[in-house]
Amino acid sequence: SKSLVSIDQCTKEDILRILDNARKFEANPNRKVLEGKVAATLFFEPSTRTRLSFETAVNRLGGRVVGFSDASTTSSSKGETLKDTILMVSNYVDLIIMRHHLEGAARYASEVTNIPIINAGDGANQHPSQTMLDLYSIQKTQGKLTDLTITMVGDLKYGRTVHSLIVGMSHFNPTFNFIAPNELRMPDEQKNFCDKHGIKYNEYTEFTEEIINQTDILYMTRVQRERFTDLEEYERVKNVYILKNDMLKNSRENLRILHPLPRVNEIAYDVDDNPKAYYIQQARNGLFARQAIICEVLGIPVEE
Ligand code: CP
Repeated sequence: SKSLVSIDQCTKEDILRILDNARKFEANPNRKVLEGKVAATLFFEPSTRTRLSFETAVNRLGGRVVGFSDASTTSSSKGETLKDTILMVSNYVDLIIMRHHLEGAARYASEVTNIPIINAGDGANQHPSQTMLDLYSIQKTQGKLTDLTITMVGDLKYGRTVHSLIVGMSHFNPTFNFIAPNELRMPDEQKNFCDKHGIKYNEYTEFTEEIINQTDILYMTRVQRERFTDLEEYERVKNVYILKNDMLKNSRENLRILHPLPRVNEIAYDVDDNPKAYYIQQARNGLFARQAIICEVLGIPVEE
């Protein structure tokens, strides 16, 4: 079976095909191509957008959903292993969509079952369906994916969305600006990936208008409190960068502000009314991108 555990398993052609199918689903999201099929959403970590957009995607495609969003109500709280949970659920459904705090959990699941696994986030590692909706949002707002300057701001250490997005964008000649406090800098693994693929990046600790003004996509991120072992360190860095509307006054016309959400405090509410704010529409695009991903892993063709 075909799973989506990491964005690096997708070729450029795979990405462009999935984005094109997302476009078709945006034009018509109600298609009964999953009739008779059941998907499981196994969320061992909290979620609003990812779980609900996946479940909406299945419902709008005519399938059905079972699952949990609170693992403490499941037998994993009695000590059942992830392997056994996956094997049990595989008895019942055609597809598993899972989020887990352990990095590599989705890959492991894909190795113990024959049904497709979609990684809905594994620790600080990967969030490939988020990347697909981010790419769709970038393509839609910029009219292209190539030759863009993408500024990533905030928790670049623990933020799985930025880790995945670097890989997803690597096919399209991006220039990255990484803005993070020293404690939350982009890890070496991602910087080595950029070096290996000849991708340009700059690192900063200051979040300045000068950088914003040279940016096409401003990708804000939340400081990930749940990943800190030292909560005092979280308290020190939690409000390190806050985007305010007046910081955007000289930004490019095509600039769009993305954020995977949830936001805590990193985008002031006065930005929401700025036409360059795109994070709510971005989350909406998640529905279409996830419909396309589900069809991709199940081998279901998407008509125009
Ligand atoms: N972007 C994202 O993963 O949001 P949720 O945690 O609410 O699913």
